[in-house]
Amino acid sequence: MPIQEIRLFGDPVLLTPAALVLDFDKELRTLVADLTETMLEAPGAGLAAPQIGVPLRVFTWNVDDVLGHLVNPVLVLGDEMQEGEEGCLSFPELSYPTPRAMRAVAAGFNMFGEPISVDGTEFLARALQHETDHLDGILFIDRMKPTERKLAMKEIRESEWFNQSSEVGRKISIKESPHGLFGRNT
Ligand code: NI
Repeated sequence: MPIQEIRLFGDPVLLTPAALVLDFDKELRTLVADLTETMLEAPGAGLAAPQIGVPLRVFTWNVDDVLGHLVNPVLVLGDEMQEGEEGCLSFPELSYPTPRAMRAVAAGFNMFGEPISVDGTEFLARALQHETDHLDGILFIDRMKPTERKLAMKEIRESEWFNQSSEVGRKISIKESPHGLFGRNT
């Protein structure tokens, strides 16, 4: 399975809500394998399909040496919150304090279409929330406190990778039609 290029902040696919998976086929299993391999190579604690340019509701995680994946997840969050630093493979080398629910139960399907549910606290709960957000086009910076987010955005805009990726983004946007962005990268 090939390692895929991870899309960086500035790429419109990261802001696009992903579509439900309808076919639990070989293609889906290849996607899960690609996500897993790309996540492990990075290395990262989680990776969502839009981050490799595939706008489908699938993500993988690697928390406490346990690998998992979930298709079409639905989250139920506990009331108690946790504080802690969070990063994202689409924001290389940066992490910021990001409030999250302490507990998250994610229900969905495995790559064979069997219903599964994952009950996570602390870091696993954080990963489940972060990755499910990716499927809705929501990024961890959107979950930060406004004052801290402002400072983070300044640092992100000044980062070398952002300036490189946004240059690429500008070149692409000149050529693209404004219509039919959704699902274009499958
Ligand atoms: Ni992320």
